[in-house]
Amino acid sequence: MDQNVYSMPRIGEAAPEFKAITTQGNINFPGDYKGSWVILFSHPADFTPVCTSEFMTFASMESQFEEVNCKLVGLSVDGLYSHIAWLRTIKEKIEYKGMKDVEVKFPLIEDITMEVANKYGMMQPGESNTKAVRAVFVIDPKGIIRTIIYYPLSLGRNFDELLRVVIALQAADKFSIATPADWRPGDDVIVPTAGSCGVAKERMESKEEMKCYDWFFCTKKLSAEKVMSEIKKSV
Ligand code: BEZ
Repeated sequence: MDQNVYSMPRIGEAAPEFKAITTQGNINFPGDYKGSWVILFSHPADFTPVCTSEFMTFASMESQFEEVNCKLVGLSVDGLYSHIAWLRTIKEKIEYKGMKDVEVKFPLIEDITMEVANKYGMMQPGESNTKAVRAVFVIDPKGIIRTIIYYPLSLGRNFDELLRVVIALQAADKFSIATPADWRPGDDVIVPTAGSCGVAKERMESKEEMKCYDWFFCTKKLSAEKVMSEIKKSV
C-alpha cells in the first residue's frame, strides 16, 4: 500500500489541510480556525456506546473549551446522514450520568472516503481496518500541531485531561514556562533550565521566588487567576 495512505502528522508540523462536509456545513481546515485553538478528534463509529458517552461529555464541556479559545471538530468515517441521525438520537433519547438533552453544536466531519482519517494517521489497521481510532490533535491559532494523543477503540477519553492540555499549552506560550507532571492551574510551574551564563546570572539576580530541587530543576509560583486571566484575554 502507498506509504502516504498511512501518513502521520507530527507535533510541531503544520496541520494537514482539507475541505470537508460536516453537520454544521462545509469547512476548510485549518484555515477556518486561524486565531483559535482547535481540537480535531476522531471516533470509531456513530451509534456506538463509548463514542456516545464521549460526545455527550465533550458537548457538555464545550463552553469550558470556548472560554479558553478552543473549538472542537469531530470526525468519523461515517456519512453525514448517519452523523445527523446519531446526534439527534443523543439529544432526544439518551440520558447518561446526569447529562440529557445534549445538543452537539460543534461540527462532525463526514469522511466516508477516509481521506482525512488517512491524512491524520487516524486509520491504524492493527486496531481496525474500517474504523478510525480515537485520535486527538490539539492545534494552535497558527495552525501548528501542538499535541497528539491516540486511544484504542475500547478506551473512552478523559476530557478533563484534554482541557488541561489546552490550558497547559497556552500557559507555556504566555509565560515561557513548562508544566510538571499532573500540573493544574495554580500549581507551581517549571522555569526553563538556564542554558547560558547570561540566563543563569539573570536568574540568580531575579527577584522572582524560585524553588530549586537541583541546578536543572527549578519551579516558581504562578496563580491560577493569572494563568486563566491571561488565557481568557485572547478569547
Ligand atoms: C464504542 O464506541 O463503543 C466502540 C466503537 C468501536 C469499537 C468498539 C467500541
